[in-house]
Amino acid sequence: MLVLVGLMGAGKSSIGNKLSDFLNVGFLDADSEIEKAAGMTIVEIFEKFGEKYFREGEKKVVSRLMLQKPQVLSTGGGAFISKDLRELIKIHGFSIWLKADFETLWPRVLGKKNRPLLNQMEPEKALKSLIKERNPIYSKADITIESKPKISHSKMVEKIVIELKKNQMFV
Ligand code: S3P
Repeated sequence: MLVLVGLMGAGKSSIGNKLSDFLNVGFLDADSEIEKAAGMTIVEIFEKFGEKYFREGEKKVVSRLMLQKPQVLSTGGGAFISKDLRELIKIHGFSIWLKADFETLWPRVLGKKNRPLLNQMEPEKALKSLIKERNPIYSKADITIESKPKISHSKMVEKIVIELKKNQMFV
């Protein structure tokens, strides 16, 4: 399983989808699967039940997805932060960190209301502190692919495929 990890706005879902097309394998999006399983949106889960409940659901759903046939899996930004999920991904998957700095992420998440962790008074500050807290953990991924403000999804896929070849994965 090729597992895309990284912060909100890094492009995990769109690049994951494109990567799966290129490799001609299936595509799974963890957040959509969580929404399907819960019968509500991520925002609703956070509002009704809180983050802890969401994380429990995320752990169940991602653990189940990791056991499916090898394909591309895009995770929500917090999945790889869970030690349990990280270990599972290490065993059953190959992790790809889509690394992006604040200047790259901020315009992509700005004004969107679908990310509960940023739906607060100081979203800018929240994103900065998530970058600081989480980057050391994302850096444990098997490979790191750097994103920049204007880089296209196709270019990102190209960069990933080069690294996959070096690691003798899929291609
Ligand atoms: C989260 C990221 C979101 C979603 C939830 C929590 C996080 O996914 O899972 O809002 O903890 O970073 P995306 O990274 O796809 O936005």
